[in-house]
Amino acid sequence: MGTSKSRREFVKKSISASIAIPLIGSSLFSCNSEKRPKKMRILILGGTSFLGPHQIAYALQRGHTVSIFTRGKTKSTVHKELFDKVEHLIGDRNDNLTALEKGEWDVVIDNSGRKVKWTKDTAELLKDRAKLYMYTSSTGVYYPYLGDNITEETNTLTKEPLKIENEDEKLEYWYGVMKTNSENEVIKAFGEKQSIIVRPTYMFGPGDKTNRFIHWPLRLAKGGEILVPGKKDDPVQYIDVRDVAEFMIRLAENKLGGTFNAVGPTEKQTMLEFVNTAKETFDVKSNIIQIDDYGFLNKNGISYLVPWIPPIEKNFGSSRVSNKKGIVNGLTYRNLNTSIKEMYHWWNSNALTQEQRDKFEKNPKGVFTNESTIIKKWKTLKTSR
Ligand SMILES: NC(=O)c1ccc[n+]([C@@H]2O[C@H](COP(=O)([O-])OP(=O)(O)OC[C@H]3O[C@@H](n4cnc5c(N)ncnc54)[C@H](OP(=O)(O)O)[C@@H]3O)[C@@H](O)[C@H]2O)c1
Repeated sequence: MGTSKSRREFVKKSISASIAIPLIGSSLFSCNSEKRPKKMRILILGGTSFLGPHQIAYALQRGHTVSIFTRGKTKSTVHKELFDKVEHLIGDRNDNLTALEKGEWDVVIDNSGRKVKWTKDTAELLKDRAKLYMYTSSTGVYYPYLGDNITEETNTLTKEPLKIENEDEKLEYWYGVMKTNSENEVIKAFGEKQSIIVRPTYMFGPGDKTNRFIHWPLRLAKGGEILVPGKKDDPVQYIDVRDVAEFMIRLAENKLGGTFNAVGPTEKQTMLEFVNTAKETFDVKSNIIQIDDYGFLNKNGISYLVPWIPPIEKNFGSSRVSNKKGIVNGLTYRNLNTSIKEMYHWWNSNALTQEQRDKFEKNPKGVFTNESTIIKKWKTLKTSR
């Protein structure tokens, strides 16, 4: 399957031969093992980007009604057909919340929180007309990640330090502080019991606009010599966006106020274990070339390759975040091969244009493009050592 065309044909065939992509989740409810949940009126702030469409799909499947509040600009690449079934409230979190001045909801899900003031304003505005406020935060609140078992009780970032070493750190500190202080604004307006804070780690799956994870489904499908960055024991964490979406809807149904990390996989996993498991998705021969020299990787443009982040210094614990509380409260995980396969299908489907795919697959600076050159350099270095 060398060319884009043959890949697309493969996708087309496997879709019609099997099931169509089961974008609507693990369906705990649809296997009739669970009672139909009490119908909720859900307001999603955002909803048309990555996480939102999967929340909408699961919520509608479970009989809830959904309103979304956006500027009307972003269009989803998944579940497009469902957007006729939701109420669209148009405004701008910067300066126009008029569309939210009327209406009552069982739960508000704040996905689009990018400024503390945005969350403060909507929490204040909705506190007497919504029973619960759920905030999509991030494990970024724990930056710098210094511990080896980061739990929901671990201190979070409320202030940026005076001295920040570089631009990457600046962004990490800004994001962590913004998310922590937004969480606090929710709790201030709604109280502990009516606030649900969810802190996902790196999410991947159909609809991902960051292109952070797509390297792996695409690369593993090709087989051959596969560059795996990192040392033997480097841990990784990641989660299918649909597992987060479904967990959030169930937390709301169960009115489980509190803070929850949304982190996978179930058990601890190293980068090598991740690749070895994920590559089983595809029936191709491959050979892993592990490059464990962080300096060499960095020099060759690989300072990270999600889910691999070098677990050193301020990132020591970024993949050492506890998922225990989430699991006890209903967090479940799809099979990794299913997730990889469905992400691959989505990428090669009509959901994206060839131009969008080329931007990643032909990026002259990307690891996807430069992998064989880097492997060659690594082999030369190893033989000369
Ligand atoms: N991706 C990850 O791996 C990851 C990991 C941890 C946490 N998170 C968090 O997960 C959340 C969900 O992420 P996401 O990618 O699905 O969504 P997102 O990119 O944060 O939000 C985009 C949504 O917000 C709307 N929006 C943007 N600006 C707006 C404005 N000024 N007023 C009103 N609506 C506005 C967009 O629609 P319009 O453009 O039409 O307005 C769109 O529906 C985020 O809070 C993110 O921080 C993500």
